Amino acid sequence: MSSGIYTKIDKELQKRNERSLLRELKTSKGKDFCSNDYLGLSNHPEILQAMHEGINHLGLGSTASRLVRGHYQVFNDLEDVICGITQTVSSLFVANGFIANLGLIDALSDSRTHIFTDRLNHASILDGIRIAGSKKIYFNHLDYDDLETKLKKSNLDDSKIIIAESIYSMDGDRSDVKKLVDLKIKYNACLILDETHAFGVEGKKGSGLGTDYSEIDFRIFTLGKALGLEGGIITCNRSQAKDYLINCMRSFVFSTAPMPAIAYAGITAINLMSKMDREREHLAKVGILLREGLQAKAFHTGNSTTQIVPVLLSSEDEALAMADKFQKLGFDLRAIRPPTVARPRIRISLHSNHTELDVACLVRNF
Ligand SMILES: Cc1ncc(COP(=O)(O)O)c(C=O)c1O
Repeated sequence: MSSGIYTKIDKELQKRNERSLLRELKTSKGKDFCSNDYLGLSNHPEILQAMHEGINHLGLGSTASRLVRGHYQVFNDLEDVICGITQTVSSLFVANGFIANLGLIDALSDSRTHIFTDRLNHASILDGIRIAGSKKIYFNHLDYDDLETKLKKSNLDDSKIIIAESIYSMDGDRSDVKKLVDLKIKYNACLILDETHAFGVEGKKGSGLGTDYSEIDFRIFTLGKALGLEGGIITCNRSQAKDYLINCMRSFVFSTAPMPAIAYAGITAINLMSKMDREREHLAKVGILLREGLQAKAFHTGNSTTQIVPVLLSSEDEALAMADKFQKLGFDLRAIRPPTVARPRIRISLHSNHTELDVACLVRNF
């Protein structure tokens, strides 16, 4: 019985290897131009200290799901801080952003639901749609005419969900949030906006691109990227929505709560991040410099306008060779290949502690 599984495993690995698509785990070395530590907070002394304090006061694991004994006051405190900064009615802290998308979509949908998903949405969104068994309707990336055409065709009155990311993780381009909100209202749909790559970087006090729109039903955040920690957050704009998730979101109900110390440190991280406007301005500036520098050397950076800058390449081998070259030069850049993206690339991720000189050195080596 098991031998069939190993035949499948061997075949898949061989196929990936032949197509230069095999992944392997490499520890980090060289200057970081690939992680999502956009504000350089992953080693911030105040957050480190808060983490130590949190462990000293609250212990290690939460020991149970939040509906049993794993609920701590610090989770309420973190959720209040998040609602304050994102201007939302309620929020729910969970293990990570992947679980947040997966659990939310599954909880809201069933086989009758039509889910309109941007073609480049993240794997956690697609997996949420898959486990919910809903009808998946792709719209072309950032193409709101296409979205509207598809919304018009849907014969459902009340079970439509639109899902988009505010900043796209592999392309660094952005959604037009106003257009998404207009369509949501016009077609009486629910709107979910994944803000994981915008949190800390864009919007008022780094609160993301959806803060001005109270019509957005749910927004997804992570502490695992610009905030330098880990953990996912779902914000809601109707009071009953959180009660529903606490009762019906399976990955929340049936999972041990995160370490309370992470929530404790998360509050410090969010408070720090909200005051980092200068860093956000710098990040925008080095983004412009990087794109101009690469474009001057005839590299394609797609439609990026953010801290995420792809260098689009023509083959997997080219992406692997380029990543390897930069690793040897002391820059940590990684190749991103199918099936993660359709077109192979190097995904450069800028941090607010990168100097103009750092960016110039990087560009010089392309
Ligand atoms: C758009 C998007 N949503 C959700 C996630 C998952 O977030 P987390 O890393 O906190 O699990 C990611 C992670 O890469 C992402 O890029």
